[in-house]
Amino acid sequence: MLGSHCGAIRYERHGQQFVADRGGFLEFQISIENPDPKVTLIQYLRRNLYLTGTKEACSQGACGACTVMISYYNHHQKKIIHYSGNACLTPICSLHGMAVTTVEGVGSTRNGLHPIQRNMMESHGIQCGFCTPGMVMTMYTFFRNNPEPNQEDMERALEGNLCRCTGYRPILEAFKKSCPCGLGLCQQSAEEKKEVTEKKTDEKPTPESYDKTQDVIFPGELQRSTEFRDTDILFVGGGYSWMRPVSLNKLLDMKAASPKATIIMGSQTAIGSKIRNNSLPSPEIICCTQVLELKRIVEEKDGISIGSAVTFAQMEDYLRGSLKGKKDRDCGVVSALLEGLRWIGADQLRNVATLGGHLMSVGPHDLQTFMLTVGAELNFISPNKKTKKLSYEKFVKNGINVPDPQDILVSVFIPFNKQNEYVLYSKQPFRRGMDYAVVNSGMVLRVNEKNGNIENLRFCVGNIESKPCLLEKVSNVANGRSFDDKLIGEACDVIIGELKECKADSMKYKISLACAFFFKMYKQISETIKQTNEKTEFGLTPTLSSGAQYYDVPNPEAKEIVWQPIHHTAAKSLASGEAVFIDDMPQYTNELSMWYVTSTRAHAKILSVDTSAALAMPGVVDYVDHRDVPGENMYGPLVHDIPLFPDKEVSFHGQPIGGIIAETREIARAAAKLVKVEYEDLPTLFLIEDAIEKKSMDAYVASHVNGDIEKGLAEAEMSLEGVINTGAQEHLYMEPISALVVPKKEDSEVDVFVNTQEANGCQTDVGLFLGVPNNRVNVRVKRSGGAFGGKALDTISASGTAAVAAWKVNRPVRLIYTRSFDVKTTCKRHPFKAFYKAGFTKDGRVTALSIDLYLNAGWNNGVSMFVMELAMLAMESTFDIPNYKGTGRICLTNLPSNGAFRGFGGPQGNFIMHNIMYDIAKKTGISFNRLREMNVYKEGDKNVNGMVLKHFNLPICWEDCKKQSKFDEVSKEIEEFNRKNRFRKRGIAMSTVVFSIGYPIVFLCQAGALVNIYQDGSVLLTHGGIEIGQGLHTKMIQVAATVLEIPMEKIYMSETSTATVPNATETGGSFVADLNGGAVMNACQILKDRLQPLKDAMPDAPWEKLIQAAYFSRISLSAAGFFKSRNVGYDFQKQGEGEYALYNSYGAACSVVEIDCLTGEHQILKADIVFDVGKSLNPAIDVGQIEGGFVQGAGMMTLEQVTYDKDRGEVTLYGPGNYKIPGIRNIPKEFNVSLLKEAKGENRPLYSSKGIGEPPLLLAVGVHLALREAVNAAREGHGITDSYRLECPATSERIRIGCAGPIVKKVDAIVENNQNVQL
Ligand SMILES: Cc1cc2nc3c(=O)[nH]c(=O)nc-3n(C[C@H](O)[C@H](O)[C@H](O)COP(=O)(O)OP(=O)(O)OC[C@H]3O[C@@H](n4cnc5c(N)ncnc54)[C@H](O)[C@@H]3O)c2cc1C
Ligand code: FES
Ligand code: FES
Repeated sequence: MLGSHCGAIRYERHGQQFVADRGGFLEFQISIENPDPKVTLIQYLRRNLYLTGTKEACSQGACGACTVMISYYNHHQKKIIHYSGNACLTPICSLHGMAVTTVEGVGSTRNGLHPIQRNMMESHGIQCGFCTPGMVMTMYTFFRNNPEPNQEDMERALEGNLCRCTGYRPILEAFKKSCPCGLGLCQQSAEEKKEVTEKKTDEKPTPESYDKTQDVIFPGELQRSTEFRDTDILFVGGGYSWMRPVSLNKLLDMKAASPKATIIMGSQTAIGSKIRNNSLPSPEIICCTQVLELKRIVEEKDGISIGSAVTFAQMEDYLRGSLKGKKDRDCGVVSALLEGLRWIGADQLRNVATLGGHLMSVGPHDLQTFMLTVGAELNFISPNKKTKKLSYEKFVKNGINVPDPQDILVSVFIPFNKQNEYVLYSKQPFRRGMDYAVVNSGMVLRVNEKNGNIENLRFCVGNIESKPCLLEKVSNVANGRSFDDKLIGEACDVIIGELKECKADSMKYKISLACAFFFKMYKQISETIKQTNEKTEFGLTPTLSSGAQYYDVPNPEAKEIVWQPIHHTAAKSLASGEAVFIDDMPQYTNELSMWYVTSTRAHAKILSVDTSAALAMPGVVDYVDHRDVPGENMYGPLVHDIPLFPDKEVSFHGQPIGGIIAETREIARAAAKLVKVEYEDLPTLFLIEDAIEKKSMDAYVASHVNGDIEKGLAEAEMSLEGVINTGAQEHLYMEPISALVVPKKEDSEVDVFVNTQEANGCQTDVGLFLGVPNNRVNVRVKRSGGAFGGKALDTISASGTAAVAAWKVNRPVRLIYTRSFDVKTTCKRHPFKAFYKAGFTKDGRVTALSIDLYLNAGWNNGVSMFVMELAMLAMESTFDIPNYKGTGRICLTNLPSNGAFRGFGGPQGNFIMHNIMYDIAKKTGISFNRLREMNVYKEGDKNVNGMVLKHFNLPICWEDCKKQSKFDEVSKEIEEFNRKNRFRKRGIAMSTVVFSIGYPIVFLCQAGALVNIYQDGSVLLTHGGIEIGQGLHTKMIQVAATVLEIPMEKIYMSETSTATVPNATETGGSFVADLNGGAVMNACQILKDRLQPLKDAMPDAPWEKLIQAAYFSRISLSAAGFFKSRNVGYDFQKQGEGEYALYNSYGAACSVVEIDCLTGEHQILKADIVFDVGKSLNPAIDVGQIEGGFVQGAGMMTLEQVTYDKDRGEVTLYGPGNYKIPGIRNIPKEFNVSLLKEAKGENRPLYSSKGIGEPPLLLAVGVHLALREAVNAAREGHGITDSYRLECPATSERIRIGCAGPIVKKVDAIVENNQNVQL
């Protein structure tokens, strides 16, 4: 293989050969003896070549973190082909004769970053950095293939890469900056280009622009020799034979000789998991990617024949290049097929997935519906070389089964549409961009040339059940009819009748989509035929992303390094893939892996555990459970009520019961499945409603009271009652929870490497579990690939179980959560339910409000009582309601225990309060903004919890945001838009946040730091906070550099460890910079004071000289700093006594959305945010927190739906494949962020800055409110004038049903029988 940089893999030879060091980049030629088809490229790169830049975040092809560039020489086209691929899906065997370029090969900190990497850094597109190498490789491959890209292509290329931190805007900016011209010209129209070049004739491409000379050179050997791709090969390894024929004859011979052999294509994206799990019927695999006869696309007279080994990307290229225009027209078959191809997965998948694999695997898959619609024909060949033709319709009727399982699909014939035939295809995904269809559909309509009536109409729908269906009765209704709109209603009735018995979740929505597709397609075709000038507008308005950020930057001459927009200090290492996350750490020679045996019951007694089969498996070393815990088995944040390993009873589905320790993680995972556990089931309940009914509550009740609620409600002029729900949210941090525990040889010492945000808690509890003092446990955290609150309690369980395992076998043990385990079993954001009663005057003054709040804690309280308190604070901190009563209760259910998630109850509280205000605004008829302006607190008011609102900046943020967003003007435009458009509606809404900063528990308000200055003048900084992507270390270095008055480059932050700074408070609460910044300032000031006499004596001495002099003068150059932020805390049970927060941060946002009323899909057209971060420590980082928080909040409000199986209580998510976080397509199309200028505020200790991180997420409530407005506009269009309660998240299903109309009326009677229920 050529390269860490670039690799060509061939397997006939032995060993791994180092070939060359070209310009500092390593190139490898790899040959592997007996390659194992189970081994994927990512495993090989990371574990065999130690190239850990390529990250593994999901192992499902659904996040793009593992993107690499794969290249080969096409001897027929005589050109080098580069494509992006997911290393987690790619088997190494498929890479014979190919070159692989990983992020390490693109640029490095030693030899210089590539412009793309530099732009990622300079655009602040890197936060935790776990997604960054994948982003870099996607961009890099894109520019290799697209010398003159446009923005639409760029956004499309990024569809396959997820980022949970940034909100994508700066990543897109880096992408745009990296275009080859360096001026952004190649993304503009010819006119715009001309204008810019004329104006800027003397401007040179920026240094960041893409420079072709830095490109990786394709290995000549692979170009010269045809041997790699044109010869049959056989690999035998890992219990499999991998055969790769290069001709059809050879393939048939192989199949005849090995009838049970499995045919695979591309990167085996559908069947790969079966190979890796050893669940194929036979150990023989035939890979058909090089069989020339299967790779042909042939244009015939009546249609096009596409070989089964043709990839989607190749099909798309061909159709665009050869056929578009020539054979196509509006509503033609080629356009319909291109539409189908456009939305299958993302580029990384389309580059390898083949038509054959797609059609031959049980779906539901998108093109299956297309093929059924257009009447495609499949051409098979059997091993005895007999060819067979089979219509796709018959194939589907057979249950997607080949007549003979030996048959091989050779090609698919797709007929061209005739002159009088029209074809359309459409897909509705849950999320636009890299997602499966909820429903897809196709229509072919033939017009009778003589009378202009419908001669034949075929209408198919797919993805409802596993195979697509042709709705023949729809044809019966339509055939022979003239084009009148009455047909639509009749056809919809038939569609409902045909589909209503289907066994699937969300049938009302799915059937309404099928009807909507019929309606849209029928209208589109009839308008094309009639050549109507004014066509009905369907779907969302196409738009591209843009944005602006406004903040003050201090004078460059200023000596303070704080307040400057400095990029993340680890950005270079993160962009180059050199940054080390836990699973990137080299293996210890005696290291073992661990995997859990988990509960398959939500609540049950454990009767027996039989590990015999697992322990007999080669490579298995041991099994651990509660019997092996040398110290305490119980832990917990308040009371010790959580078992590390349960002994008698399991409390949720997926709970770890014990762990297998083995030589590799694959062995451990396989062996864990062999452990047999017997249970006796106990009663279960999962929902808040059930817990209320069964009185399954924690004893804790939160109660906040103001005035006289009974009197207030009784005397109110008007009143209203309602119920408001919010759903759960999964953190989906990109780096899964990971731990590596290394027992030391003496005195019971252990090193614990874990990606926690709670190092102190891990240290204390590992000590507790092992029964050793805390001084023997060193928890070390270099960084975490995102956390968002999800890496607190759950990392204690991970590091604790790994520590017990390491203790038992006395060897290092690594435990890396799989994505599926992580999302199924770790904590989520708490779902809430609020029952409210409000009293108010006719002109909108709210006089009384009573709220009964419930949260779903999961199986134990954990941190739920604090989450409840914060939710209540969020409800109470904005509006002045004289008579108020809030009560909060904690429901206990049989689900994983819910925990901290960015905002910690705040988003739920803010959502509930804004929705109550919305309800009151609708009831009184007063504008929503006016109502809130009337009820908001004023400067100097005392709120429900006794806080006097000094420097209450909310009204300033609100007014600034109204101006920035042009609220009044845009509102008018929206009214006009809604009046003109029937099937798309827009909504606009403002939202606010008041967020309390500073823990109410006094002992948590402390922090430590350690600053060491070495003789060369370099400074090593440590503090108790953890870098989870929020830029904390960068800010802390800025603080230290400002106090010490030295350049930032002299200061380094290596890691957070309990050995250097003890007893640190958990990283969370948006308060970490305040706390640790205080400690860093203190330590630096101590050192500065010590150095002062010397400085006075040598005023002109440079820093290094000063330090040397200090050393020789025996001045201590190490100082521990300490900071405590408050002396008065707050006890929520004694409401109003003390201070519950140190200060508030404020923000306002205006969100504009558009919905497609027929499908429920939405887009955020615009978001304007004004935020008060005081005097920002680092405005670039703070803008990143605002954008990222807002997009994560928008995910919570719209796409992100956590579901569980209603019988088993198992969370039915497995990762980004079925849990949809926002992607590049889901961010605000225009995203403008301002930091509040001249914010009023005290001179707070840390350079007048304010905490950030959590509060901006709460502003995304506005997205939901704007959607509610749009849905209400749609309802008004149908004459319904109520105020619709849009649930949270506002999924496309809920938006669609909310929009009402004739279709929804028709499907209303369908009885839902969902197996997967939302939390
Ligand atoms: C991340 C991700 C996103 C996805 N998104 C979408 C989406 O949005 N829409 C959608 O429709 N699908 C989606 N898919 C599914 C995807 O379309 C299929 O995985 C893919 O088309 C399978 O192609 P392959 O070449 O990898 O097939 P393989 O996995 O190699 O083969 C699949 C099956 O077909 C059989 N087979 C293959 N070729 C032949 C042949 N010539 N003759 C007989 N049998 C054959 C194999 O034996 C195997 O059983 C997604 C998949 C992934 C991993
Ligand atoms: S790790 Fe490969 S796509 Fe997520
Ligand atoms: S920076 Fe993208 S996932 Fe963290």
